[in-house]
Amino acid sequence: MTSNVWVRPARMWSGIILFAFVTTHLLNHAVGVFGISAMQVVQEWRWALWKAPLGATVLYGAALVHITLTTYRLIRRQTWRMPDDEVLQIIFGLSIPFLVLGHIAETRIAGSFYGVDEAYHAVLFRLWPDVAWWQSTLLIVAWSHGVIGLHHILRHRHWYPRWRVTLVVLAVLIPFLSLAGFVAAGREAHAMAPPQAISQEQRAGIDDARMMMKGGLATFGAGVLALLAFAYIRRRAAATVTLTYRGYGPVKVPLGTSVLEASRMHHIPHPSACGGRGRCSTCRVHVLSGASDLPEPFGVEGRLLDRIGASANVRLACQIRPTHDVGLRILMPVLGEQRAREEDEQQIQEWALEQEATVLCLDLRAFNMLTRASQPYEIAVLINRFSSEMTQAVENRGGRVDQMHGHGLLAVFDTPAGGASARNALHAARDMARVIDLLNVEIAGALPIPIRAGVGVHTGPVVLTRIGADVASSSLRAFGGTITIAARLEAATKDMLADFVVSEETARISKLDFSGLKTRDIMVDGSDMAVSAYMISDQELLAQVLGGTKTVTETKSQTAMAAARG
Ligand code: FES
Repeated sequence: MTSNVWVRPARMWSGIILFAFVTTHLLNHAVGVFGISAMQVVQEWRWALWKAPLGATVLYGAALVHITLTTYRLIRRQTWRMPDDEVLQIIFGLSIPFLVLGHIAETRIAGSFYGVDEAYHAVLFRLWPDVAWWQSTLLIVAWSHGVIGLHHILRHRHWYPRWRVTLVVLAVLIPFLSLAGFVAAGREAHAMAPPQAISQEQRAGIDDARMMMKGGLATFGAGVLALLAFAYIRRRAAATVTLTYRGYGPVKVPLGTSVLEASRMHHIPHPSACGGRGRCSTCRVHVLSGASDLPEPFGVEGRLLDRIGASANVRLACQIRPTHDVGLRILMPVLGEQRAREEDEQQIQEWALEQEATVLCLDLRAFNMLTRASQPYEIAVLINRFSSEMTQAVENRGGRVDQMHGHGLLAVFDTPAGGASARNALHAARDMARVIDLLNVEIAGALPIPIRAGVGVHTGPVVLTRIGADVASSSLRAFGGTITIAARLEAATKDMLADFVVSEETARISKLDFSGLKTRDIMVDGSDMAVSAYMISDQELLAQVLGGTKTVTETKSQTAMAAARG
């Protein structure tokens, strides 16, 4: 059965709230490098947020929801084969309650129930240096658990690769500064007058509370272990279903096992770039028999299948748990040397990664007329020459030719992502126009008409994947709506009497000055969506945009061009 739709978002959002709490806590520690008094000022703000009735309810509610749902997920696991980072995340997550228990007793419980001073000076005096290593371990473990979780949530967002380095720097810097602040403030606390000592009654009360918490935690841990053992025994005794994989034969798995878990249990290579979270679609399978016995896709699975326009009987292996025998075929390949490293996220991501890119689509005008009026040999020479010149123009600007056909090409600029890619694509468009001019001079007389091209450029998310039988012969290809739009903009060049049509999105990201140029809304085929785009009549005007020296308006250029074309 597909998992409940609310479980995953609830687990994710409760985790994000806890991560926000940990982040503010660590940043507060980091202020310790400026002294305890600065720390205490920030602590007041932090308490105003997390100790207020609303903040405290949200925080404790999130802790309860997160612990409950992660435990539930743990117990429901059908296999313990999983990527290394997931193993680490689970180990860190399970360690947190044991590490944090003493800290809660000495701060929140001591302060709220026994009137012990909870201000930084007093707490640091008690912690430093005897339990400093324990505190530091807690800090690193809790932070790492959150960072891995956040990475899993964000890694398939198209903007994530652009921000990856910044986020890694923050992920290292924040705990480092926090530890530095903790050490500096701990030393300062001992150089100051000691705070009021904890009385014997207070100590006894805190120790009692700590013992109670330990008892509760031990009971909870024992309960979880018992449930895990029970789930394991039940799985062993439960009825089984048979999954018959095309190319791998039948495997028997306990009822309730997802298809992806079944593949992992039986060492069947099965891509799962998002680790089974229903975000990447690389695990999809074609259900060859028994599809009608599966529940209809809904929730995470339904949305993702809709988004990729999956055909009937294509399902996400990580989301379906067959209750009857099924036959299926894994759709995405895990190739050659990858099989040994199928859990290696970096490797798998290369097989289907969504990221932002600028796509350039170029098409030769009047190609049919050209082929009808020329000898096949002349056309063959022209196409070869054209292909190699255009490829060079794209690669010189850091792009990659994604598709090349006789009369045009599609190029993707995704390194570096963002503004630089958009500018590189526009520079490449101008270079191509120059090369076409040179070709026209070179082969003048050999062709009945000069060659001309229209170029459409658009920026947005594309899905990159490898196509091919093995690593050596495979090539990277881009898919997605951004390509459709770039092709539509190229087609619009003919109607708009413009050599280049550049989407407003590309213009915005490129940070070049397009002001004064006219825009048009261009309908995208097969949808009711319109894309606003700039008309750039010729390469001179494009050069002015690229050089920031634009003086000609689009209207004048187009008028001149329309007149010249008769
Ligand atoms: S593994 Fe990513 S959607 Fe199934």
